[in-house]
Amino acid sequence: MQTIDPHYYDIIIIGAGAAGLMCAGVAGQQGGGHRILVLDHANKPGKKILMSGGGRCNFTNLHCTAEDFICANPHFAKSALSRFTPWDFIALVERYGIPYHERDHGQLFCDRSAKDILNMLLAECERANVEIRTRAPIKDVRVGPPHQVDTPTGTVQADALVIATGGYSVPSIGASGFGFDLAQSLDIPVRSTRPGLVPLTLGKKALKRLEGLSGIALDATANVNGKSFRENLLFTHRGLSGPAVLQVSSYWEPGQSVEIDLFPDVNLGDHIRSVRQQRPKMELKTLLGERLTRRVAQRWCDLGVKSQPLGQLSDTDIDRVEQACQSWQVWPSGTEGYRVAEVTVGGVDTDALSSKTLECRAFPGLYFIGEVVDVTGHLGGFNLQWAWASGHAAGWAL
Ligand code: FDA
Repeated sequence: MQTIDPHYYDIIIIGAGAAGLMCAGVAGQQGGGHRILVLDHANKPGKKILMSGGGRCNFTNLHCTAEDFICANPHFAKSALSRFTPWDFIALVERYGIPYHERDHGQLFCDRSAKDILNMLLAECERANVEIRTRAPIKDVRVGPPHQVDTPTGTVQADALVIATGGYSVPSIGASGFGFDLAQSLDIPVRSTRPGLVPLTLGKKALKRLEGLSGIALDATANVNGKSFRENLLFTHRGLSGPAVLQVSSYWEPGQSVEIDLFPDVNLGDHIRSVRQQRPKMELKTLLGERLTRRVAQRWCDLGVKSQPLGQLSDTDIDRVEQACQSWQVWPSGTEGYRVAEVTVGGVDTDALSSKTLECRAFPGLYFIGEVVDVTGHLGGFNLQWAWASGHAAGWAL
């Protein structure tokens, strides 16, 4: 009779998050009878999935392309994304009868709760007899093969080791730099990391100028480094947030300015000139307030060209108003950091990995998947789609 070594597995996955659970389920259902162990130091699997999308999990995006990702190699994500598309994930969601709906820009959310997505992934793992061990901090890893992992209850080993430990964002629920540190200890290059999809903070002077506006949201275009996003902008007590700002935050580097257009789609100068002709007695703040809200319009007038009847505005005044509203230069002092960032930009250099399988070129049987890799999605379900697609690519290859 063949005996099974309880410490030996075919595949060990570190990280029971979106990518790790996806990978485990796919690898286990390929008919190879793989023994698969998933280890996580948190007390429960998939904690970030549960908090995603405000608890409703924006689990994918119908318009997902490689252009929705930031990566030093813009072609890297194409292979995995094309072999596991949003429609493949939707098919899985529908197989489990999970109700969902579409919001703006092709974003798909659960109708009920993100729990539906986590339960689905756990059910897929159960079908594949995957063993999930939580509260399992990793003491040490020796890369083989066989790869050995020291846990508080002993050493486990496997032919394949998958690192799915995500990034630094939201350390309070168990995020850590484990994957980056492991890569660096093996001389696998790691692209410098920073918080992404994160509110931007302003210095004291700038905050004083915006005092009293926090909570106001406006439709705006935010631009940084040639990247431009039109969505809502939100004034906060610390600076600026809202989807438009979160999107540009992933491209912003300290010392750079963000340019904001508070009148997208409009040539404000032409608009003011035309209204000046028809309604010369209209106050500037009234015209600006039609779009900016009364409070923001009043503040922009207090800080720039004073409100007065449009008939009294010179062309130079109008140019200055246009400049202040359509090319508003903001110099963030920083970001709100990993405490609230949705993602980590940067990570394991994709040059070190196969784009087809996510296997490390220098270490056979070692894989990096999900957010730990230098692939960062825009806001809108792209980061989870990358977790599913990269988890699927590695799981399929195992
Ligand atoms: P994930 O972070 O999911 O999993 C990593 C796992 O590794 C965790 O379970 C962690 O405990 C474990 N781990 C870490 N260090 C370890 C160690 N040292 N030892 C053992 N285990 C360790 N994206 C999206 O597409 N749609 C959305 O709606 C949202 N919403 C959202 C909201 C919030 C508040 C945040 C913070 C993030 C999002 N995201 C998102 C981003 C998305 O959740 C994220 O990109 C994916 O969960 C990444 O999946 P991974 O599996 O790579 O990491």
